[in-house]
Amino acid sequence: MKVEELSIPEQVKEIIIKSGISELYPPQEEAVQAGALEGKDLVLASPTASGKTLTAEFCALKHIVERGGKVLYLTPLRALANEKYQEFRKYGSVRKAKGGRVRVGISTGDFDSSDPWLERYDIIISTNEKADSLLRHRAKWMDEISLVVADEVHLLNDSERGPTLEVVLARLMQINPEIQILALSATIKNVEELGDWLKAQYVTTEWRPVKLKEGVLLHQEIQFKDGGAVKIGKSAGDSALNLTLHIVKSGGQALIFASTRRNAVSLARKVAGELESVLSRATLRSLNLLGERILAIGERTRVSELLADLVKRGAAFHHAGLGGGHRKLLEDAFRDGKVKVLAATPTLAFGVNLPARMVVISDYRRYEVGYGYYPITVLEYKQMAGRAGRPKYDKVGEAILIAKTDDEQDYLMESYVLAEPERIWSKLAVERILRPHVLSTIAAKYAQTEQGVYDFFGKTFYAYQYDPKAIKLVITKILKFLYDEQMIEVAGRDVFATKFGGRVSELYIDPVSAVFIRDALQARAPVISDISFLHMIAHTPDMFPRLRPYSSEIDELGLFVDEHKDEFMFEPPGELDDNMEFEEFLGETKVAWALQSWVEEVTEDQMIERFRVQPGDLYRLVNSAEWLLYASRELAGLLKQKDLVPKLNVLRERSAKGVKVELLPLVRLEGIGRARARILFNSGLKTIEDLKHAQVDRLTALPLIGSRVAKRIKEQVGGFVKSEQWKKLGKEETPEQKSLTEYR
Ligand SMILES: Nc1ncnc2c1ncn2[C@@H]1O[C@H](COP(=O)(O)OP(=O)(O)OP(=O)(O)O)[C@@H](O)[C@H]1O
Ligand SMILES: [Mg+2]
Repeated sequence: MKVEELSIPEQVKEIIIKSGISELYPPQEEAVQAGALEGKDLVLASPTASGKTLTAEFCALKHIVERGGKVLYLTPLRALANEKYQEFRKYGSVRKAKGGRVRVGISTGDFDSSDPWLERYDIIISTNEKADSLLRHRAKWMDEISLVVADEVHLLNDSERGPTLEVVLARLMQINPEIQILALSATIKNVEELGDWLKAQYVTTEWRPVKLKEGVLLHQEIQFKDGGAVKIGKSAGDSALNLTLHIVKSGGQALIFASTRRNAVSLARKVAGELESVLSRATLRSLNLLGERILAIGERTRVSELLADLVKRGAAFHHAGLGGGHRKLLEDAFRDGKVKVLAATPTLAFGVNLPARMVVISDYRRYEVGYGYYPITVLEYKQMAGRAGRPKYDKVGEAILIAKTDDEQDYLMESYVLAEPERIWSKLAVERILRPHVLSTIAAKYAQTEQGVYDFFGKTFYAYQYDPKAIKLVITKILKFLYDEQMIEVAGRDVFATKFGGRVSELYIDPVSAVFIRDALQARAPVISDISFLHMIAHTPDMFPRLRPYSSEIDELGLFVDEHKDEFMFEPPGELDDNMEFEEFLGETKVAWALQSWVEEVTEDQMIERFRVQPGDLYRLVNSAEWLLYASRELAGLLKQKDLVPKLNVLRERSAKGVKVELLPLVRLEGIGRARARILFNSGLKTIEDLKHAQVDRLTALPLIGSRVAKRIKEQVGGFVKSEQWKKLGKEETPEQKSLTEYR
């Protein structure tokens, strides 16, 4: 079927055709035949890169232009939301039948807001968590959503993040029973069940834009799914390495999935060691520039130095320890064909459009602390394997598992290559997970009686898949907890939230966190310091990531606890009473200590050395801290602990920027992060007033500050600059001086 023949507005067709797409992919055609364009609910389950997004695009645009509807596009990750936002923006010129042009908005930040400004948009791209928080704030415009796209809906199976998506979908259906649902999924076994729950039709396909050859490598021979076998020459010791070099030499790129960060780094190192001699001089030159750009992003650390060094030789690692700026740059460079080999942890398999001619799955196992090794699911395997094959560039893609023995080769063939992906199961009925959702159901008045709460959760995927009685038991227990902790009240048959409960729901924190914070703020430590607050938030279940104390750190952490014992809001458990609990406490202490070091301006590189906290972890830690300190401040205000409000405010701002109090006025300027602010301050430019009077050359004479940044500073602080001076500013500068944002 041609795009030309679709019953969608002409202007939309033009844009799609202009983007180079004139023929529908088969899954897209099937979705159309199933009535997606006529407003039918649909689950579209088809392989990676089979064009599910475009299906959502033309359905959404028709819906908006012809029916004046409003669309919510849900994704599991911020990075994905950004990607979709870029894709949808091309429709910004489309005129609606009612007049006006299509407006595309994105909302992923701030969980304590109803974002009323979103009302103006026709398509809103959001993450599942942000949508959940908007529903808790009863954002008015959400009642008008008439089409919801749920991308990567197989996430329902994820024990941490699936339940949020499940509750969001159930709520949207509750608010507007007429809402059209378009659920996009990887291939799963129980699509029918999912369709049944959503009262939707389903389309399931195995179609892929590039043929996929799956196989298992043992020593130098790949056994393929279809029975064929291929021998590869030996040029390096390690099988995964050998295979990777083989594909690069033939002009392709490889994506290697490793089980841990450490393995990803070690694979990238090995590949880089062999690759340099294979690449052309011109390629190496452009890689060299890329390496320099990596060093210019954020603070220089041993991680960024290693990454730059490897990238200069054509390989890189990609994992959650890297900062967002680095990850984005690597993804783009891989897509452009510059970086030849990317060794990644499995998070990369998720949705981001990043195909490679070959996917190497170096280990079919994963490691989890306290759990040990376990094999990945077939679903995960399929997601990774599905990344193989670049449309328009490759005729076939290859996905290869690595076996060490004959038996393992058979096992991998049977259990992954020839296996069907599993069913997905709801993970909702876990007390810790369900607790905030029960509170928000009451607080945002989605249910006003106990029975109403049971009714709502009786319509979830969990209740559909299991016995509704099972979830009822958990809910009853949670209701009791919420009542005992004064988050809800009961009057006759009615239940409603207290002020405290209502605010906790909006603040998007676990009710247990709120209880900890409340008790801490009311009881207080004998001495209140930064450590008091930082440990308080580290103690809550919302702090993420949780840091484990390494055995070599135990003594040092124990000493730290002793030194600061008057500052803790919670009594340390006795070391001898309960070892597990004590270790947990040391872990929290480590988080508090790391955050304190951060606000005392310890460099990122020192953070890596002292706490083994990599930039990506630090970023997440800082995000959690910011959010929990904000929530604490709000609760302090509500609980009549107003003297703590300013303290929490300052600490929150310092956490966000990683600075001492004296730098706060400077880091409020755009383009000025902790590093530049410290340089300015130490050179005597301590206040906005100082900056206003400073000569421009005095600014540009400082390290890390180029003419662009100097100009940006002057624009913000005011102060007169002669026009010939502005002109002189266009001098040569390093990438570090140029960058207007100091990334974290
Ligand atoms: N009909 C088409 N013709 C040519 N290219 C297409 C067509 N439809 C989509 N594409 C392209 O295919 C690529 C993959 O599409 P998309 O990201 O929607 O995959 P997906 O099915 O959502 O996969 P994933 O499971 O990875 O999310 C995109 O680059 C898109 O532009
Ligand atoms: Mg997709």
